[in-house]
Amino acid sequence: MSNTGIIIIGAGQAGAMTAAQLRQLGETGRITLIGDEAHVPYERPPLSKDMLLQPAQTRCAIHPDDFYQQHDITLRLGVAVAEIDLQARTVTLADGEALPYTRLVLATGASARRLPMLDALGAGVHTLRTLDDAAALQGVLQAGRRLILVGAGVIGLELASTAVDLGLRVAVVESAELPMMRATPRLLAEFLCATHRERGVALYMRSSVVAAARTATGLALTLSDGTCLEGDAVVYGIGVVPNTGLAQAAGLAVDNGILTDAQCRTSHPDVYAVGDVAACQAAPGLPPVRRETWENANWQAELAARDILGLPLAQNIVPWYWTDQCGLNIQLAGDMSADRWIVRGALGAGPCLLLGLSGAELVAAITVNQGREMRGAKELIARRACIEPAVLADTQQSLRNLSRALPA
Ligand code: FAD
Ligand code: APR
Repeated sequence: MSNTGIIIIGAGQAGAMTAAQLRQLGETGRITLIGDEAHVPYERPPLSKDMLLQPAQTRCAIHPDDFYQQHDITLRLGVAVAEIDLQARTVTLADGEALPYTRLVLATGASARRLPMLDALGAGVHTLRTLDDAAALQGVLQAGRRLILVGAGVIGLELASTAVDLGLRVAVVESAELPMMRATPRLLAEFLCATHRERGVALYMRSSVVAAARTATGLALTLSDGTCLEGDAVVYGIGVVPNTGLAQAAGLAVDNGILTDAQCRTSHPDVYAVGDVAACQAAPGLPPVRRETWENANWQAELAARDILGLPLAQNIVPWYWTDQCGLNIQLAGDMSADRWIVRGALGAGPCLLLGLSGAELVAAITVNQGREMRGAKELIARRACIEPAVLADTQQSLRNLSRALPA
């Protein structure tokens, strides 16, 4: 096989980190990173937070601008890959240029799920996935305006928090019983619901939009219970869909994500998939899991790079993500479907720690303005530690110390 180099499709978190990991771990051949956005690879978490609250002070580039040149990584920005030919080992760009590869990494991420009824309204309706989306929102989030958010997931709640901080009047429409239920336990979802309400957000739960119209004074949404909301702008965040089109057309196995094994290898031996687009089957027989987090993008970048270079596997991690809203830094690790939760401290009264048990084992932890406990919590979860609930609830016991006290 001639060494024509590694091509990475998608210059987001997972793609940019795969390129960096490959170089860091010793790859000396050609690396080409292709992205359809015009921007140098950037982090998305600030887009719903500091990029709207204090844009002038916020930088979100993943690496310094000269990083790619310094590490001999060819960046092709503002151009989409239109086709992959697995047999010929080439990718074809939208402008017709064909590039050969020896190994291919798909890091095409995900896109905002569309709500055609809202899109049909045109101006004043937004989604938030890209830097350009955030730039458009900067002009919209002006004090005194009325904002309607549809979907109370991570995007909806972080935007609700940001918009209140910026002085807007905010309503949120959510189809489920509680916000953020995809990735949080009920007690945290209830707490978030109450916290946003205390900050003046009008939350309409178990509601959906049944009609949408432009009026003389704004945009009007009719909800399933007949309520009519009027706003100056609407932003919806109702989940994402993985960008699997290229992979599917090429004949790779796809099922709500590009299917991979634990090393991010797809159904074709030359091709890997990483980040939001990858549906990873950790072991044969287990269901594929697609994670939509910053840490997962970074971790899978390392997994794929190591496998490509024939290096030992990276250590397994406990899944983790964070959200910032209402002045709270909330970090969540492990399995959020834990059977029961022990609360250290009280939700809503200062720093707090939630520990999730399945049977006697610690399987999850959530810190609220108490991130320093997260490292110890992850160590305990990784070992599925069985510790007396009374000890776990004791605020005098640091999780780090509990972890150190476990037998080796
Ligand atoms: P992406 O970042 O989506 O990158 C994929 C890239 O590939 C995109 O640039 C896309 O345009 C490009 N692409 C797609 N198809 C093609 C093609 N055919 N040719 C060329 N390029 C292509 N996670 C957390 O853990 N904590 C947070 O607080 C948090 N906040 C977030 C806030 C926002 C507003 C958003 C949008 C996400 C947030 N996330 C957060 C999630 C995190 O940012 C994502 O999990 C992460 O960006 C996934 O990285 P990725 O590289 O897989 O995908
Ligand atoms: N009307 C109202 N609410 C809806 C509708 C609808 N038609 N459809 C879905 N929802 C709600 C869901 O019940 C859920 O609470 O929208 C919410 C979507 O939440 P997430 O799945 O967290 O998606 P979103 O908030 O859009 O975030 C998208 O950004 O921060 C990242 O990692 C995050 O990948 C995720 C992405």
